[in-house]
Parts: sequence; C-alpha cells; structure tokens
Amino acid sequence: MKKKLKISLLPGDGIGQEISIEAKKVLTWLVKKIDLDIELNEELVGGASIDTLGTPLSNETLDRISKSDAIILGAVGGPKWESLDFEKRPERGLLKIRKELDLFANFRPAIVFEPLINSSSLKPEIIKDLDILIIRELTGGIYFGQPRGIEKIEEDNHRGFNTLVYTTKEIKRIAKVAFDTAMTRSRKLCSVDKANVLESTELWRNVMIETSREYPDVELSHMYVDNAAMQLVRDPKQFDVIVTTNMFGDILSDCASMLTGSLGMLPSASIGITNTGDTKAMYEPVHGSAPDIAGKGLANPLAMILSIGMMFKYSFANEAIFEIINKAVETVLKKGFRTKDIFSNGKTIVSTSHMGDKILEELN
Ligand code: IPM
Ligand code: MG
Repeated sequence: MKKKLKISLLPGDGIGQEISIEAKKVLTWLVKKIDLDIELNEELVGGASIDTLGTPLSNETLDRISKSDAIILGAVGGPKWESLDFEKRPERGLLKIRKELDLFANFRPAIVFEPLINSSSLKPEIIKDLDILIIRELTGGIYFGQPRGIEKIEEDNHRGFNTLVYTTKEIKRIAKVAFDTAMTRSRKLCSVDKANVLESTELWRNVMIETSREYPDVELSHMYVDNAAMQLVRDPKQFDVIVTTNMFGDILSDCASMLTGSLGMLPSASIGITNTGDTKAMYEPVHGSAPDIAGKGLANPLAMILSIGMMFKYSFANEAIFEIINKAVETVLKKGFRTKDIFSNGKTIVSTSHMGDKILEELN
C-alpha cells in the first residue's frame, strides 16, 4: 500500500496566500498524475492567525502540524500587525514553529538558472553555473538568546538588548550537518563567524575545527562575516557550502539570493533530527510576505514551488520529483516566461497564477 503523506500548508500573510494557491496546484497535480497519496491540511500562522485566533500560532495548530510528515509555509508579517507587542507579532509564529519543532538546520541553496543569468545585478561570468548552499543555524544565537527586551532606564532613555549565545552542543550538531552535506558535494566547507570580536562565535570556530577532525576529507575554511558578505558579491563561485549562525545566515542568504536574480527564486528547508533519529521539516521560500505587492498577482511563486521539490528530496527521499520540479522551472524560464521581479527585455511577463499554470503545463 502507498504511504499517505500528511502535509500541512500554512499560507500566512501577504503574498504567502497567492504563492500557496500555486503550491496547491502543483501538489494536486502530483496526486493526480504521479498517484501520490497526499493529505493536505491548511493551517493558520502569522497575521492570518492573529486575526482569527488572536495569536500568531495557536498550540492546537502547533500540535497538528507537528504530527504531519512535512510543513510548507508561505510567508508571515505585514504593516497591519507591526504595532503589536513583540510577542504577538506574526514573525513569532514562524519562530515558534522553528523552535518548538527544533528545526535547527536551515538549508538555503542559491542556484543560478541559466535563463536568468541576465536578471542578476552581477555580471554573467561572475554567476554563471553558480550553485552554493548556505546552512544556517536556525534555533539558537541572538534570535533566541536570553535575556532580551527593552527596559526603561530613566525618563526618555531605554535600553534594548539581546543576547548572542551558542553552546558547544548547538554548534556541534549544525557542524555535523554541514560536514555531512559537504561530503556529498565538493567537500569544501566555509564557516562564517565574527570570531575576532564575538566570543560566542570564537567558540563556534573552535567547535568547527574540532569537528573537522572527524572529516579529514573536507577542506574547512573560516571567514569573518563582513568579508564573507563582500566575497559573496565579488566572487561567489569560490564558495560551495557555507555554514553560519542564525543571524549571519539570515543576512547572507538574502545577499546570496540576489546573485540568482531574485529573492523570489530561493527555496529553503528547515530540518530537525529528533532523539529517536526521526526528522521533522518545514519548507518555505526565503522571501517574506512582500505586503507592497500582495494581492496584485505580481508575486513570483517559483521559490515556493521549488520548496515543494526540496520537500520531496529531503522529507520523502524522492529525488525524482525534486528533479521533475526543477526541470519544469528551468524550462518555463527558458521559454521566456517571467514574473515582474525577474523580467528582462524581450521576455513574456506573467502573473503569479499564470506562472503556476505554465509550470503545470511543463509538468504535464
Ligand atoms: C527568514 C526571515 C525570518 C527570519 C523572519 C520573517 C522572522 O527573514 O526566514 O529569513 O529572520 O529568520
Ligand atoms: Mg531573512
């Protein structure tokens, strides 16, 4: 008997809603044409959840999605909820899923699709055939460190503070994921830190070095984050796998996305490994909810669709579907169809849903 795949889809806010419609089209196609047994459950997160349930992620939702085989998330946030207390904002919903499910390893590939080579702001020869992977630690560091807050010192003077903290164990487990991944690629790993200034990342560097002894075939290098940002735009092909902290990974992955032409092209996978060796995972585009273009059919659904591909590769060990989806994206781009963010002269501009239809045509 076929195994039923339980998938939770959390569209969230802004363009998250539109790109989720396209994700559903692709999933429905897979059910019909590949005969997969998928149970798809839609759930609320972010602002959408605040409006209906009064919280960015309810415990009931968390409980249900944690029992599914994989989670797909659109995007969260928007001006409507920006004035809320910090703990009640849409982003807290996303961060709660990451933390509660312990999704500590975030994979953010930056791959240049040949047809988009002219959409990048960088020269074609700098980015041609670019294929790098940023592995971002996702459940530690300054995003979650305690103490944190804003407190009043005196009239008209407050103190805002966060804590950048990493333990050996937290670094060790992301290091292992990074070294294991490097072993499956070109065996080059660059660890990005700020060890010249921040003790927590000095520890990060030491643990990386210590772990490297277990992986004699992987060439480990280190780079300070400021230099890494510069090198990413100067000569991105010097990198293969990059491993870094939560906040540095957030920043560097946006930077890397622009090498590929658009933030609208980058999928991601966030993976946790439980004590019993099971994996939990969430798939989401790297981009945000883009409230400025939401509801206008301008959003690029490709990062979302590519995230579905990653789900099949990482959660369901189905490399074939991963390849089929990537191929469909590549061909649609080759045929000249572009959403506005990746448009260039001579190409055909399409809306969000039109782009989804083109992918389906190609899949067919
Ligand atoms: C990302 C986003 C999130 C982050 C936000 C929405 C909380 O920027 O996934 O990169 O900072 O991690
Ligand atoms: Mg980000």
